[in-house]
Amino acid sequence: MTQQISYSTVGWLFLFLVLLAVVGILHQTCTTKSPLMHTSPALMPQSALAAMVESEAQEEEEEDIRVRRLPQAIVIGARKCGTRALLDFLEVHPRVRAARGEVHYFDREERHNLGLSWYRGQMPLSRPGDVTLEKSPAYFVTEAAPARVWRMNTSIQLILILRDPVDRVVSDYAQHVHRRVSKDLPPKPIESLVLTRNGDGRVNSNAKMVQTSLYHRHLRRWLRYFKPDQIHLVDGDRLVSQPHSELQQVEDFLGLKRHIRPEHFVFNATKGFYCLAPSVSSGRGKKRRQRCLGSEKGRRHPSVANSTLTALRHFFAGHDERLVQLTGRTFDWMRRNAQQFGEE
Ligand code: A3P
Repeated sequence: MTQQISYSTVGWLFLFLVLLAVVGILHQTCTTKSPLMHTSPALMPQSALAAMVESEAQEEEEEDIRVRRLPQAIVIGARKCGTRALLDFLEVHPRVRAARGEVHYFDREERHNLGLSWYRGQMPLSRPGDVTLEKSPAYFVTEAAPARVWRMNTSIQLILILRDPVDRVVSDYAQHVHRRVSKDLPPKPIESLVLTRNGDGRVNSNAKMVQTSLYHRHLRRWLRYFKPDQIHLVDGDRLVSQPHSELQQVEDFLGLKRHIRPEHFVFNATKGFYCLAPSVSSGRGKKRRQRCLGSEKGRRHPSVANSTLTALRHFFAGHDERLVQLTGRTFDWMRRNAQQFGEE
């Protein structure tokens, strides 16, 4: 009997211990926090919790969403004034995204006919808060371009880089020489491209190379559609001599936090221009060596007869004055020319 009692006591004790262990395990399981509970009160309904988790995930995704967007700003010209240097150097800013080549959407009929979705497709991927840019210098001189740009976006920001109109003509001519020589063709004399045909030595104001340098005429056309504060003027000569300060002004214009500093550039004596310093990140990645613009930028200019240069200088002097009247701005080349040729 005693033995019977002691057997059943041990049995009950064992059962009691097992029960205790099971209760302990259950308690532990119920009080361990799920990873989803770090911000939610214990009694949050499942549907609300699920919605919150989803919205958190969405926010994280949005921060990194990259889509193609229409540009908020366009470098409209002018050809041979430093448009490539301006765009490539601006891409040092981590929030600037630029289209690779020249898009020519607003100046070429066949491209404009493809519509805005095609245009958007030419833009790079960008995140919210980035500034998407493209440059097509032909826009500046194309009659239809300002109205077309305006129809896309009336509050767009426009950037126009200008340089000494005579230097621009000679730079255009250097390109002509290069193209002809690369096709084994003799270059035309510059006089046949910029002076009147009757040999009186006067500038032909209808010549294409001359027309592009008539800055005030083209700018006036853009000002019919856009307010002056929508068009930022860059001094092309200063972009050559002190790139960072011209670029800082562009950063301000675009509403970007200043990022570009003098250390981002190194002067390359062989090229005769500033290049991107080694290890500077830009839209084209990061290289250990310094990065200069291609050989087609900053070419050696062909020599031009003094009489032709003088004719061009006289011709453009009046147009420079009109540009000052229109913009209220005196460019570096104007001061330099006034000192150098003022007494002629
Ligand atoms: P040149 O080749 O006549 O010297 P664009 O890009 O609009 O075609 O302009 C070309 C001009 O950019 C060049 O004309 C050159 O003067 C100017 N430029 C400005 N900064 C430059 C840089 N850092 N490297 C090379 N060219 C630069």
